[in-house]
Amino acid sequence: MDETVIVDNLRVHFLLEDTIVKAVDGVSFHVNKNETLALIGESGSGKSTLGKLLLMLIKPTSGEVYFNGLNLTKMRDRELRKIRQEMQLIPQHPEDALDPKWKIYDSMVEPLRIHKLVNGKSEEKELVYELLEMVGLQEEHLNRYPHELSGGELQRVVIARAISLNPKFIVCDEPTSMLDVSVQASIINLLLDLQKKLGLAYLFITHDLEIANVVADRIAVMHHGKIHKIS
Ligand SMILES: Nc1ncnc2c1ncn2[C@@H]1O[C@H](COP(=O)(O)OP(=O)(O)OP(=O)(O)O)[C@@H](O)[C@H]1O
Ligand SMILES: [Mg+2]
Repeated sequence: MDETVIVDNLRVHFLLEDTIVKAVDGVSFHVNKNETLALIGESGSGKSTLGKLLLMLIKPTSGEVYFNGLNLTKMRDRELRKIRQEMQLIPQHPEDALDPKWKIYDSMVEPLRIHKLVNGKSEEKELVYELLEMVGLQEEHLNRYPHELSGGELQRVVIARAISLNPKFIVCDEPTSMLDVSVQASIINLLLDLQKKLGLAYLFITHDLEIANVVADRIAVMHHGKIHKIS
């Protein structure tokens, strides 16, 4: 089986003061193992909503999502929590993923503790240092708070957290849209390096066709909740 994610006729409709917002309106596609599918489309076309649906962070109105052959839409929350370790989100705004009151070390160690991937303080520290090196950060960053990091450094922390649970699939939601052009390339290169090293599949959301062309094996175009074209 080459596909890691299969989406079949997925819909989510929000009810907003008597009107129905068809944010995602019947989309079907797949993402292969080790592949990057870029998802492009104008603001409001439903890209972030679709990304969250794939991880079941929002429940669909109808349709199915399969991850490694398992139908996520039929799963209970407890089962989903375990599966979600293998499916991660790099959110549109890195600040959304980090608690402003926590030092970077604590933010990095939290998912490892929750999923019981570490045993004791020294193991924790070892893994955090390993992750730090993988994403190109230094020891000095660990003792700081999120507001004491640059946008690029923050995004590296978020990426470290996402890969720390050994995922197979990551939704990257405009991971560089908040960054200076000069920093964008280094973050994109990091994501591409990690993909090769760790064997990751990405759904890479962007509204920048140039970035999509650099990162993607295939490109899907979204418009008003529908996917019109996959190349
Ligand atoms: N929880 C919600 N309740 C009601 N409407 C919502 C909700 N979440 C999203 N929407 C609507 O769904 C549509 C798609 O939003 P979404 O955030 O997925 O777009 P997007 O393509 O990611 O846009 P951007 O490029 O600006 O990030 C928008 O019209 C938005 O207002
Ligand atoms: Mg969005």
